[in-house]
Amino acid sequence: MTGFMDEDIVKEILILMIPILCLLAMVGCRAAPGAECMIVAHRGASQDAPENTLAAFRLGFEQGADRIEGDFRMTSDGHIIAMHDRTLSRTTGDPRETADVPLGGIRSLGAGDWGPWKGGEFRNEGVPTLAEVLAIVPEDRGILVEVKDSDRIVPVLIRELERSGLDRDRVAVIAFDREVVATMKRASPKWKAMWLTSFSRRNGTWSPTVDEVIEIAKSIGADGVDVEADPAVVDRTFVERVRSAGLELHVWTVNDPQLALVLREIGVDSITTDRPAVIRKAIVR
Ligand code: G3P
Ligand code: CA
Repeated sequence: MTGFMDEDIVKEILILMIPILCLLAMVGCRAAPGAECMIVAHRGASQDAPENTLAAFRLGFEQGADRIEGDFRMTSDGHIIAMHDRTLSRTTGDPRETADVPLGGIRSLGAGDWGPWKGGEFRNEGVPTLAEVLAIVPEDRGILVEVKDSDRIVPVLIRELERSGLDRDRVAVIAFDREVVATMKRASPKWKAMWLTSFSRRNGTWSPTVDEVIEIAKSIGADGVDVEADPAVVDRTFVERVRSAGLELHVWTVNDPQLALVLREIGVDSITTDRPAVIRKAIVR
């Protein structure tokens, strides 16, 4: 008899524990934010190959990046190419402005035969078009297209994205220029667009504040923000505030494995890095 009583009590206790166990499971999930934290290869694997070249983008994927990030501008004849700076000089040696040169002129430039890369294995790398970059994105990976041009690029950009056949979940347009994000979302809301920002300290206060970041992102219809990974600003509270506002939160540019680990733990959606292999290894669970 005593044995049956004990069994009943045990059953009741177990039944009572079910909601508690469920709650603990939920808390456990929340305690492990960043489980899906993606690695983004900044300008490709730009520590190991010349930035914004097909070689760097391919290497980014080979190093385990979930996404590549590239910088894009328009040529004088309306083509979109991968180029970070306003002028072509830093990465190709040509002093002209990107916007003044037609695609034909860009084709003759070397992007892998300058500075530290001169005469090396990348010497035949050229400056790729956006279409060429989109074409090498593997089926299970994606791309962050950073617009370095004005919002004049948007119609051409949308056309290229549509032509690429890439699924909308694998593409995000990012830009510091709020007009680019706003115009993109107005013109084709189906494509994800995020606002980029850095932070500066004025009179002891970091700017923009998290409230300002959220307000700006909302006002331009952004799906999220991609922010400078300054540990003085981007902490757990910052992440929770942005997330609670219904926005994605991505960070750049993180080459320190320890910082990457902290950022994964506080739950950022992705970490952009010049060294995808190193950061992938650092944050693997
Ligand atoms: O991913 C955003 C980051 O690339 C912005 O800075 O100058 O490297 O384009 P920048
Ligand atoms: Ca960039």
